[in-house]
Amino acid sequence: MTLQSGPTFFSFPADALAPGAEAAAIVAGLMADAPWVSFKHLYGALGSRLFDAITELPEYYPTRTEKALLLACRDSVARAAGPAPALIDLGAGNCEKARSLFAALRPSQYVAVDISVDYLRQSMSQLQREFPQMEMLGIGADFSSGLRLPDAVSRDKRLFFYPGSSIGNFTPEQALAFLAGIRAQCAGPHGGGLLIGVDLLKSETLLQTAYDDALGVTAAFNLNLLNNVNALIGSDFAVRDWRHRAQFNTAASRIEMHLEARHDLSVRWPGGTRAFRQGQRIHTENSYKYALTDFKTLLARAGFDRIQAWTDANDWFALCHAAI
Ligand code: AVJ
Repeated sequence: MTLQSGPTFFSFPADALAPGAEAAAIVAGLMADAPWVSFKHLYGALGSRLFDAITELPEYYPTRTEKALLLACRDSVARAAGPAPALIDLGAGNCEKARSLFAALRPSQYVAVDISVDYLRQSMSQLQREFPQMEMLGIGADFSSGLRLPDAVSRDKRLFFYPGSSIGNFTPEQALAFLAGIRAQCAGPHGGGLLIGVDLLKSETLLQTAYDDALGVTAAFNLNLLNNVNALIGSDFAVRDWRHRAQFNTAASRIEMHLEARHDLSVRWPGGTRAFRQGQRIHTENSYKYALTDFKTLLARAGFDRIQAWTDANDWFALCHAAI
């Protein structure tokens, strides 16, 4: 019995390869005819905590529905995945969902990847104390444009875990490319696979309230993106000048989050400025909702095989296991 000395951390900061690229991308989005900022700037020390608070809201059904599904299906999932996989948790956050699978899956290694590395350090040091024999790696990386894993990650049998319907942040075309990328990285001598959570199409009212809750936590989560942008590009966005908007785009099958200017205003940053009219919006997030058959087709097109799906009694959310 080996006791681990603690999780090992790797950090791939976004700007390590191209300094300034992150800021340039934000500025380009702000200057566009239809202004936008990437959803990844919702996260950070405060944003990750606000997201955790969202998952506790009565209106936000995905997290608790998926949690119940994981509990109900963990033995079937373990049978589909086979013994002792390296569990690679994409967007691990507080690591709670993965932890709920440890007893059934008995992972040989736990690899947690998240854009917010400081948050990951906290979650994982606690987890390592609870599971002192499990080898754990923490990776601070933005994998939204591709995933790079260090050599320390086992190749034997990888089970990628992508819960929470975070796949919904990608357009279906981007999702296909992302899934194909995972498919390419999960082939090992003893197979490999993907366990993924996906939010399903449902009544517009339910969707609307899930993304515009009565307490205003989702509003705070969305508005806090402006604080993150200020820190990244040195802009002077004032949160008070903006309001949260969430709407279902039926044609695209997605919930959209926007920030809307409360009055005419200008935002300045070193080297630039932009005027916004009252009511003008900055698009901050898409959250695509799928019909289960369409999502299974997407997995098959990405090269996966033997696709199994489990859903809750309302058919609100699906958990899919796909092998290679
Ligand atoms: C983390 C992308 C799954 O789309 O439901 C929650 C993010 N945005 N409320 C989602 C989110 C607003 C969430 N995902």
